[in-house]
Amino acid sequence: MAVIIDGKSLAKEIRENLKKEAEKLRDKGIIPHLAVIMVGDNDASKVYVRNKSRACEEIGIEFKEYLLPSTTKQSELIELIKKLNEDKKVNGILLQSPIPKPLNIQKAFNTISPEKDVDGFNPYNVGNLCIGQDGFIPCTPLGIMKMFEKYNIDIDGKKVAIIGRSNIVGKPMAQCMLAKNATVTICHSRTRELKKEVKDADIIISASGKRNIVTSDMVKDEVVIIDVGMNRNDEGKLCGDVDFEKIKEKASYITPVPGGVGPMTIAMLMENVIKATKKQNNF
Ligand code: GUN
Repeated sequence: MAVIIDGKSLAKEIRENLKKEAEKLRDKGIIPHLAVIMVGDNDASKVYVRNKSRACEEIGIEFKEYLLPSTTKQSELIELIKKLNEDKKVNGILLQSPIPKPLNIQKAFNTISPEKDVDGFNPYNVGNLCIGQDGFIPCTPLGIMKMFEKYNIDIDGKKVAIIGRSNIVGKPMAQCMLAKNATVTICHSRTRELKKEVKDADIIISASGKRNIVTSDMVKDEVVIIDVGMNRNDEGKLCGDVDFEKIKEKASYITPVPGGVGPMTIAMLMENVIKATKKQNNF
């Protein structure tokens, strides 16, 4: 029976420490400030942004939301980002993904000043992660690395299978694992034999968005399972990518959904905002 990795309580512990950091900054007259841009109407994004706003409030980070209509032009979005780049009060800028189809989100990410890029999606920060230089690391992979640290899970020399190749999770996750000397396999929708790729893995990180993509017969004994999925089951309840009930009997560690990776992602966003604020104020 696996140890259930408690992302919820680890995230709470991290937020409590960040609150103290924010208080120290406040004592020096510095108020950390996060600007969040949302374009169009997306129900999932609204929930994510509301959770980010609550976390900011708890920690003492000023939160400002910019809601743009779905008819927004690329040039208008870029203009807003440039304005926020220039604004000395703003320490972090986040453009909530997805944005409406005709707009190019990567071009928008490219415009966010690397010093304020708390999501780590600007190519400058992507590059820094690839070559092992300090910068901003995307929040989900960063949160997963914190879980490994907290639970003393060894990564060095281990076989890691990542399911999903997104710029938000899969690719930066692979870089984080590589930096810790893992042997990394990235699987995706065109992978021919998923079972063959994951069966031998010591650690499986699934970010596919497909319910039950990993079943008990696909994993080896004592595997470590990190589930980044956010899906709904037939009863409409939140669930991950893996068959949690069966795999937990076989794994050594497993993250639940909800209460695993999700809360860590938000805690890491808060950590990145505090880091940006400190850097910009030469702390
Ligand atoms: N949409 C889903 N996850 C994320 C995230 O981590 N950052 C941003 N900006 N948008 C997202």
